[in-house]
Amino acid sequence: MGDEHPGDHYRGHPHGDDGLAGTPPMGWNSWNQVGCYGLTEGVVREAADEIVARGLAEVGYEYVVVDDCWQGGRDEDGVLFPDPERFPSGMAALADHVHGRGLRFGVYAVPGRETCANFYDGYPVRDIGSIGRERLDAQTFADWGVDYLKYDWCRADETDGLDRVEAFIAMRDALRATERPIVYGISEYGDREPWRWAGSIAHLWRTTHDIRASWESVNGIIQRQAGLERFSGPGAWNDPDMLQVGNGALTTAEQRTHVGMWAMLAAPLFLGTDLAALPGEVLGIVANPEVIGVDQDPLGRQASLVADRGGLQVWARALTEEAIAVALLNTTDQHAVISTGLTDVGAPAGTYLARDLWAQDYLSTVETDLTAEVGPHDVRLFRLLPVR
Ligand code: GLA
Repeated sequence: MGDEHPGDHYRGHPHGDDGLAGTPPMGWNSWNQVGCYGLTEGVVREAADEIVARGLAEVGYEYVVVDDCWQGGRDEDGVLFPDPERFPSGMAALADHVHGRGLRFGVYAVPGRETCANFYDGYPVRDIGSIGRERLDAQTFADWGVDYLKYDWCRADETDGLDRVEAFIAMRDALRATERPIVYGISEYGDREPWRWAGSIAHLWRTTHDIRASWESVNGIIQRQAGLERFSGPGAWNDPDMLQVGNGALTTAEQRTHVGMWAMLAAPLFLGTDLAALPGEVLGIVANPEVIGVDQDPLGRQASLVADRGGLQVWARALTEEAIAVALLNTTDQHAVISTGLTDVGAPAGTYLARDLWAQDYLSTVETDLTAEVGPHDVRLFRLLPVR
């Protein structure tokens, strides 16, 4: 891995040092849980309550984000309001509830005229996009107490002739003008290599199309992150999309890989499932403090793929305290033994204490190689600490 890290120029200066998203944002977002029509203020309140009740706030889950389909329309002054039936108390009251739990509140908006649910889910409420009303909408969000904005491209080039860089900058500037600290996450699905230009615009940018709750989707996304590590760092993160843990037919091993690799990738961690129903075993995965510690390591260095032998992969990232995180990832359908030389993961010659992060236990000292058995679709995670 070496000392050179071309992402260094973003570090701490994504948008004139606003100090936001110094580590990847964590929280809950409604989309992967309820999609469009199941979204209600009750679902959002319950998510906030459960983040606290199930110990997730303690390990860093913080932003509660209302995705698409909260919108009810615009009033005679053009000000957005929520769907009156599904959000009878209004957005400011919902933000208060979330803040009252010690958490932060987020919403979804789009740069064109139509949201993605207008296009893909037949959502009938029109004229809710921010085109030409960026300042008004940003101020509305700030007045409600919004702390996070997900700004989603959809098809604003085709339908509204917008340029994505200009459109994302317009909302960035509108958010700044409110003077409220608001984390800004943008999404154009990785179509125009946003890692090359978004670091000075947003705190995070999606790198792929939408994640699904399947191994093919999760593993496919992991594989597409290799090489993007040089574009991410504190205040400016690659976003491989939100977690599908708790959804679909992902096995326990696959859920470990999903969370463990997102942590290696310094990815934003947004849960999107019914937190009250999350089985204890899965809660143990998403709330493992040592795995989250890798995600949230202050150096903010996204892992590199250092070896791939027929789908048996080694990923590594530098951590603070001269430690190194190593993932031994088995993308095959068979049990395997995966091994790496320590020099290959960037560890200078010496003796290291290897900590198994899932077990939260020390293995042993290692000197030349790290070797472990890894089940199909599973990942073993280690933290190597130099022994003086
Ligand atoms: C797009 C985004 C999703 C979600 C939906 C909402 O598909 O990528 O994350 O926000 O829109 O309609």
